[in-house]
Amino acid sequence: MRSTADLYDWELQHLHHRIDQDVGFYRGLARALEGPVLELACGTGRVAAALVDAGMDVVGLDIDSAMLRSARARGVDRVVQADMRSFAFSFSGAISRPFSLITVPYNSLQLLLDDESIVACLRCAARHLAGHGLIAFEVTDFGVAGDVEPEVLAEADGVRLIGSLSVQGDVLHYRRRFEEVGGTTEHGAAAGAVRAVHQDTVSLRRNGASMAERWVAAAGLTMVSADWSGLGLRVTARTTITP
Ligand SMILES: C[S@@+](CC[C@H](N)C(=O)[O-])C[C@H]1O[C@@H](n2cnc3c(N)ncnc32)[C@H](O)[C@@H]1O
Repeated sequence: MRSTADLYDWELQHLHHRIDQDVGFYRGLARALEGPVLELACGTGRVAAALVDAGMDVVGLDIDSAMLRSARARGVDRVVQADMRSFAFSFSGAISRPFSLITVPYNSLQLLLDDESIVACLRCAARHLAGHGLIAFEVTDFGVAGDVEPEVLAEADGVRLIGSLSVQGDVLHYRRRFEEVGGTTEHGAAAGAVRAVHQDTVSLRRNGASMAERWVAAAGLTMVSADWSGLGLRVTARTTITP
């Protein structure tokens, strides 16, 4: 049975084709800002590990210890298990100064299901920023108008993903069922049988891009929009960037 963290990486690769389009964006910002980086909701360390590989001083924060174990295995040595809505660094010891860059890649802000939580997260991040620092995050409008029945979304490497969507107000519920297929079952059944199943639901805000400006203003920050090619952006003040 694969772990949830493995299945998360599988889904990134085979469904979202999210190899690393965004990594250069965050790496460019981190280089421009020259200081420690904090990634909120770092998951299995896809982005954080790439920044570590580039020689940067990176801390990965996530609420899930299994995700953090995978991030460590990828080379993110400094990880913190905490809730991104209310974390606290004292800036003594290993992490001795505020962060120049705080990132929330890949729509992870949208996992916070009410405005208050998102604003709390941004405010908490702002308290941990250096004077010249930035918060950089990706948000998306998913454009899903109604429910979508279960369908096979991807199949590769002995895993099949069946997904469905339901919409509840501003929140989208994405139900996932990962089936590990092929080989023989423990009872000796034929190849192609389902050997293990992992099911869960990811709930997230539907309209992150449309809401971002409001969230940023409510947190007392200023927003600058950019896209993945926004690396030439001149950084002069504490502000927030949405790619
Ligand atoms: C989409 S995944 C991580 C994405 C990762 N940053 C990347 O770009 O590949 C979302 C992560 O958010 C974490 N998460 C969800 N709610 C959280 C919270 N309140 N505080 C911290 N992490 C949270 C989950 O445990 C999961 O690892």
